[in-house]
Amino acid sequence: MLDEQLNSLESREKQLRKVFDFKKIEPDCNKEFLKIKLDLPFNDMAKDVPLAFEKFGWYGMVHRRHTEWIRSPVYGGLGLTYNPDYKFNIPKHAHGLGQPRTDVNVRGKDTYDDCLGLRTPTDVTKFRSFKSFFDRLKLQYFQGRFAEVKAADHGANITEENKEFIWHTDEPNEIISRLLVPLIYDEDYWIELESGTKIYFEPGYAYHWDTFKPHRWNFKYHSNIKNRTCIVLGWAPWLELKEGKWSTNQYFNKKHSMDIVNEGLLIQ
Ligand SMILES: [Fe+2]
Repeated sequence: MLDEQLNSLESREKQLRKVFDFKKIEPDCNKEFLKIKLDLPFNDMAKDVPLAFEKFGWYGMVHRRHTEWIRSPVYGGLGLTYNPDYKFNIPKHAHGLGQPRTDVNVRGKDTYDDCLGLRTPTDVTKFRSFKSFFDRLKLQYFQGRFAEVKAADHGANITEENKEFIWHTDEPNEIISRLLVPLIYDEDYWIELESGTKIYFEPGYAYHWDTFKPHRWNFKYHSNIKNRTCIVLGWAPWLELKEGKWSTNQYFNKKHSMDIVNEGLLIQ
């Protein structure tokens, strides 16, 4: 299916679901979340985070409960991909950081709702040490960001009550799955799953779980807390877009995203 043949209204996900017959399959591996050891230049990557924000900027996430382009001062960063046909005239590195809940005219194809439309890597993926990570991915990535939580700068003003809003779900995992690669963090940050499970980051690991189920990030504020930065990678377990043509890959309807990560098939 050629990308240019898709209609201009519905999201790519919606249209490709009609073209390819997606089946629901269960993972072989029976874990709530996975942590996988990665051999990456983590020290260099951590040092390159502030350099990247200096070079490419920093864009706060636009929350859906807003009707205007109000960017969070707390959670934001840089998009890993952009949509060359985006409906909004905003910088490329901001495409991956949300849009307000506006009228239906700005939903659908080529908006933030169109996760597969965010299909062209931004320059931050080629920047300094980051390139070594993105070069090793065996499946295509769409969506995602370098995501910073500015707990040091704003944490004192964030109450437990307004943290309730950060519970969210991401895309269905057969379309876009996620891998979280912590770069700058400490033991005062964690991810909470609906079951109550808390994921604390350990040096040298990346994390994956079903991000279509409710989850949130959280932290315990103290005066020495650091701002946290992770790569939030949105990758397609079953689809690829090559030379403008959408197709399914060898794992389509056969291998669950959880098993792809578990069996080391995402990263070389
Ligand atoms: Fe998420």
